[in-house]
Amino acid sequence: MSRIEIKSGGAIVRTLRVPGDKSISHRALMFAALADGDSVISGLQQGLDVGATRGCIEALGVSTETQGDELIVHGVGVGGLSEPGDLLDCMNSGTTMRLLSGILAGHGFLSVLTGDRHLRIRPMARILDPLREMGALALGRDEDRFAPLILRGGTLRGLTWKMNVASAQVKSAVLLAGLHARGTTWVEEPKATRDHTERMLSSMGVEVLKEGECRIGVTGGSRLSPAEMTVPGDPSSAAFWAAAALLVPGSRVTIKNVSLNPTRTGFFRLIERMGGAVELTTTGEAMGEPVGDITVEYSQLTGIEVGEDEVPSAIDEFPVFGALASMAKGETVITGAEELRHKESDRIDTLAGELRKAGVVMETFADGMKISGGAKLSPARFESHGDHRLAMALGVLGLAIEGGCEVAGAEAADVSYPGFWKELLS
Ligand code: S3P
Repeated sequence: MSRIEIKSGGAIVRTLRVPGDKSISHRALMFAALADGDSVISGLQQGLDVGATRGCIEALGVSTETQGDELIVHGVGVGGLSEPGDLLDCMNSGTTMRLLSGILAGHGFLSVLTGDRHLRIRPMARILDPLREMGALALGRDEDRFAPLILRGGTLRGLTWKMNVASAQVKSAVLLAGLHARGTTWVEEPKATRDHTERMLSSMGVEVLKEGECRIGVTGGSRLSPAEMTVPGDPSSAAFWAAAALLVPGSRVTIKNVSLNPTRTGFFRLIERMGGAVELTTTGEAMGEPVGDITVEYSQLTGIEVGEDEVPSAIDEFPVFGALASMAKGETVITGAEELRHKESDRIDTLAGELRKAGVVMETFADGMKISGGAKLSPARFESHGDHRLAMALGVLGLAIEGGCEVAGAEAADVSYPGFWKELLS
């Protein structure tokens, strides 16, 4: 278990790039695997989660080749995967397990998916239920609630699935199963979530149906054309640098070439509302995604209220947002965010437990938290709880604590941002 020491320090004035977007990288690999021919992916994120997806698609009979900075994926077409000889190890990655389950439900062979101890306690009934409804055998541990999962499917039937949680992973799993189903499959989301699946499938030639913001459909039998894919930088990784700039006086950070998909940039809207100097500049497009630069300058922040409508587009940024709120003037209240309890850790309890170690005064609720900002924080020995985003959020907070902090379990960052600590400490 690695321990990192962070010291409070001087202004951060930098222009940098962050690793490729994690959500897009997973999809690039999976959709390339389903395409009719060879796709070329550049900018693929090199973290452990995306590595898990690559390992799984290879175990399902898809060959990949690294050529310089690019990865060639020899697609086998929708329905063309082959039975794996062993368990599919999704490691820490919910996206791998949930999206892949949607694809595997469309195949007649047996697959067993497992993951690390964190993933094996994350809710899976939300994907198994619709897949079963579509005709697949879909089982899980503890009355079909958790991994390991067992899937054996085949030709599925299209359906309309009304989701009771706002989850892009569930939406994507059902749509991917829908590609293997007879007729049209619709999903209805309670709130619009990240739409990479829709954008990327469209850019590969699939007709994605949309009625309003939250009803999305695909028709079975659609084929995916191979593509040249360029993965933009991850706005969720950029958020740590934005926070570093906001916390250290005199700082100004520009993060280049990031996905500026509005379903992902909620965090930047929130910090702007707190008084942060933030500028998003779109410079182009990649794989149907707007791409551009983010510049953030040190600013004095004021607490705000965050309601459920604002949660999905900032869902992965609440650890770092909470860290910022603890340094803002006044109270920040987050509600409608119960989903935070089902991430890589229970991010309501783990964040509160860790921030309190530094003297932050906060309350937690079933669906959120209240953070009283502005207290002078004391040096702390933080713990990552095996959660990459919690580890990085706490490390960044250390920049603003006189006397700094330690983060135990810092290696968790490798899940989405290998090299983060080296870059932060350089
Ligand atoms: C993701 C969706 C979100 C997000 C996760 C990645 C995706 O999860 O938290 O990090 O790639 O679709 P939920 O679908 O569970 O909200």
